[in-house]
Amino acid sequence: MRVGLVGLGRIGAFHAATLAAHPDVGELVLADADEVRAKEVAGRVGAATGDPFTADALVVATPTATHAALILRACAAGLPVFCEKPVAPDLAETERVAAEAGRAGVLVHIGFQRRFDAGYAAARRALRGGELGDLHRVHMLTADPRPPAAEYIPRSGGIFRDCHIHDFDALRWVTGREVESVFAIGANRGAEFFAAAGDVDNSAALLTLDDGTLVTMQGSRYNGAGYDVRMELAGTRRTLVAGLDDRVPLASAEPGAGYPPGEPWPDFGARFEAAYVAEMDAFLRAVRDGGPSPCPVDDALAALRVAEAAEASRRAGRPVRVAEVTA
Ligand SMILES: NC(=O)c1ccc[n+]([C@@H]2O[C@H](COP(=O)([O-])OP(=O)(O)OC[C@H]3O[C@@H](n4cnc5c(N)ncnc54)[C@H](O)[C@@H]3O)[C@@H](O)[C@H]2O)c1
Repeated sequence: MRVGLVGLGRIGAFHAATLAAHPDVGELVLADADEVRAKEVAGRVGAATGDPFTADALVVATPTATHAALILRACAAGLPVFCEKPVAPDLAETERVAAEAGRAGVLVHIGFQRRFDAGYAAARRALRGGELGDLHRVHMLTADPRPPAAEYIPRSGGIFRDCHIHDFDALRWVTGREVESVFAIGANRGAEFFAAAGDVDNSAALLTLDDGTLVTMQGSRYNGAGYDVRMELAGTRRTLVAGLDDRVPLASAEPGAGYPPGEPWPDFGARFEAAYVAEMDAFLRAVRDGGPSPCPVDDALAALRVAEAAEASRRAGRPVRVAEVTA
């Protein structure tokens, strides 16, 4: 098929290479606001530059503020679309996109790649299959080794909408439960630009699921040991951890303990490389075979509601029920 890709920055350039290598992609058409960049990436992966909307499917990897308009344009054209998370920086626009995508009946896949990570998928299967017994406790972590560029932060939506949105989606997807309430806090321990943007560089949250399960969550933009993303699920029979692999950036304080043996994960690109390839394959399969979206806009909206509750909680200094959050 002919696939269009718009936005060729950090994540878009990676998707370009994945699409160029995919057996179902006969033609790849790339576009970026920066034409020099578009030509450079096209030359590197062996693709053309042009209008990405003249295709059988569209991939969107532009900055967050542009996603909604591009998804809506694709829906109006009946074009199946994969769009990077998040759908939009705010709830009202995300609700509008969800409603429009539903009306149009067009395939829309939002890029929550943890759903395609082998560990997260295995944890989900084990929990749903009853292997853990009754779930009583969940702990989640998203920690970047270093902050993104200063100019990224003011338009990122803050740590809960930008980073923890992946945790909120994974939490709903793995457990099959809804988040009822959030009590979130944050701290500014690093560069000035976080506080200047009204954001924090370290975060923590207590969440309660609709069956009473308690969840703790932590995040950091300053995890010097490496890129650390984990989800621990403790039940009455077993405890399973997604992300506790040979490259988890941890060191044991126990004398003689040799775990973990590998080089720490340096960044999200390396840690989730296989998941990014698998999510694109799932999107192309859904386009080709007409299946449902494995990451629908409605789920992205539900994850954003939790992020909004977390941000509101941090600012108000009190627990916030997700049901309180309105556009
Ligand atoms: N799923 C993930 O793990 C993950 C990881 C990184 C980024 N993202 C998301 O991907 C999106 C892009 O992030 P990034 O870090 O690659 O950004 P980036 O700034 O590195 O790249 C954005 C690119 O889009 C181009 N661009 C900007 N406006 C455009 C427009 N209107 N039309 C065409 N091109 C335009 C820019 O020139 C740039 O090349 C963000 O929404 C981000 O949240 C997701």
